[in-house]
Amino acid sequence: MAILTESENIAPRRPIMAANWKMHHDHLVAIQVLQKLSYRLQKTDFEDPDVVVCAPFTDLRTLRTLIEADKIPVFLGAQNCHWEKSGAFTGEVSVPMLSKLGVTYVIVGHSERRQFFGETDETVNLKTKAVLAGEMNPIICVGETLDEREQGRTNERVAAQTRAAFAGVKSVDAERCVMAYEPIWAIGTGHTATSEDANTTIGEIRRVLRDVVGSSADVIRIQYGGSVKPGNIADLMAMPEIDGALVGGASLDPDDFYRIVAYRA
Ligand code: PGA
Repeated sequence: MAILTESENIAPRRPIMAANWKMHHDHLVAIQVLQKLSYRLQKTDFEDPDVVVCAPFTDLRTLRTLIEADKIPVFLGAQNCHWEKSGAFTGEVSVPMLSKLGVTYVIVGHSERRQFFGETDETVNLKTKAVLAGEMNPIICVGETLDEREQGRTNERVAAQTRAAFAGVKSVDAERCVMAYEPIWAIGTGHTATSEDANTTIGEIRRVLRDVVGSSADVIRIQYGGSVKPGNIADLMAMPEIDGALVGGASLDPDDFYRIVAYRA
């Protein structure tokens, strides 16, 4: 695997492109989409990043079977979880349940969950620790609102979210975490942060991580998310701090997502 990025200090980090299908694609459509993506992935020779598909819970069993049967080179991801292993939590899904399905990544603290489903910095921390304890990898989302940005509070906001998410997380476990910097005003709006701005904020997140988990910060992959498209991925990935993308809208179409994954091809 080629070394694609190098932070100011040390470690090469393997790029990671994650599709966040949100509440799209029932399990029948999911089969078609993954098959198309698989066809593209297997027919092309390029230096590949890790590819993750974060699908609705109802798709996971079907996708797992397909991934195994066709040896598709993608990791399966979920979009949320509960932090308890089991219990009277109607409507929730636990980490061990996801793990049994071969899920390896779980999005934690997406801004839509913070905004619409009462996710707090505290529950993000509980979920982060639960995912790590379940031997999976959280994709921890942070990002500022437009108001916070206009008030010059971006760094303060993402620093607070980052510190809270990693409270009580050991450095050795932190290395299995992925973070996603997703400015809320850029999600699903067509407005992307400039590559330079995204790089600066992600650099700031990494500085906070160094303070919290030491040199493990240089191993943690930090994605950018918010209106990532085939047309802007190369500029984003050219930035030294940006290790990949969390892709919503453009991940629904397997051709578009493939063009993001294979941005170097
Ligand atoms: P978007 O969503 O790519 O549609 O902006 C990104 C996300 O919410 O993860």
